[in-house]
Amino acid sequence: MVQFDILTLFPGFFEGPLSESMLSRAREKGLISIRIINIRDFTTDRHHVTDDYPYGGGAGMVMKPEPIVRALSELKETPPVPHIIYLTPQGSLFNQECARHLAQKERLVLLCGHYEGIDERVRLHYVDEELSIGDYVLTGGETPALVVLDAVARMIPGVLGNEESFRNDSFYTGILDYPHYTRPEVFEGESAPEILLSGHHKNIDEWRRRQALARTLKFRPDLLEKAPLSDKDRRLLEELKREIASGDDRKE
Ligand SMILES: C[S@@+](CC[C@H](N)C(=O)[O-])C[C@H]1O[C@@H](n2cnc3c(N)ncnc32)[C@H](O)[C@@H]1O
Repeated sequence: MVQFDILTLFPGFFEGPLSESMLSRAREKGLISIRIINIRDFTTDRHHVTDDYPYGGGAGMVMKPEPIVRALSELKETPPVPHIIYLTPQGSLFNQECARHLAQKERLVLLCGHYEGIDERVRLHYVDEELSIGDYVLTGGETPALVVLDAVARMIPGVLGNEESFRNDSFYTGILDYPHYTRPEVFEGESAPEILLSGHHKNIDEWRRRQALARTLKFRPDLLEKAPLSDKDRRLLEELKREIASGDDRKE
């Protein structure tokens, strides 16, 4: 069981995504718990102000430190000790390995920024880790929090019906996933690969591995530099490179 506490100024943002599909089922099964905490509830002034003008001037507003720190302090009063993550485009790039690592924690706090972000002193003294979901800027940390929540939740044992499915996913093994086909056998004149209908599991596994390597080579060759590859994989890759060089890969 992993407990997620999401700190946001926009709790309504999460209503739809949390009530559908995998996240909803995982909550029902008691495999994850998700609490949406409104930072505004931790203001003490009459107007519930959560942002203010930036010192030094400039465009945009900055999220005030006090409500966030009050919310975090209250969360820390109950065990287990939370791992506090601030979503920011300045954080380290979130990836599958990071999701797998976070799925082993007992409790995660996902702090969503808005406007120009949060007061730097909160980042410096209250945050354990900063994560970015990509090199672009979104309006708020809510979408990134959902991305992290989804990717981490599906790594938790029991969350996916079929445990195998995340093991084959792109990036889990360091390379891209193989192509998938389902019924009908012939769609718009194009047949599903014969080998997948053969029932010969060993050949199917080999075909899938070759396809996964081929598309990684084609679309994300950078992944191959770090992926754990067997000698057989390396031989296959050499073969695939030769096929590309001779134009033979278009037959696949
Ligand atoms: C408009 S952004 C602020 C961007 C900030 N001024 C900067 O350039 O680093 C508002 C909030 O959205 C969230 N955010 C935006 N893009 C993000 C990304 N790529 N990854 C994670 N969080 C992001 C962060 O929580 C951030 O505080």
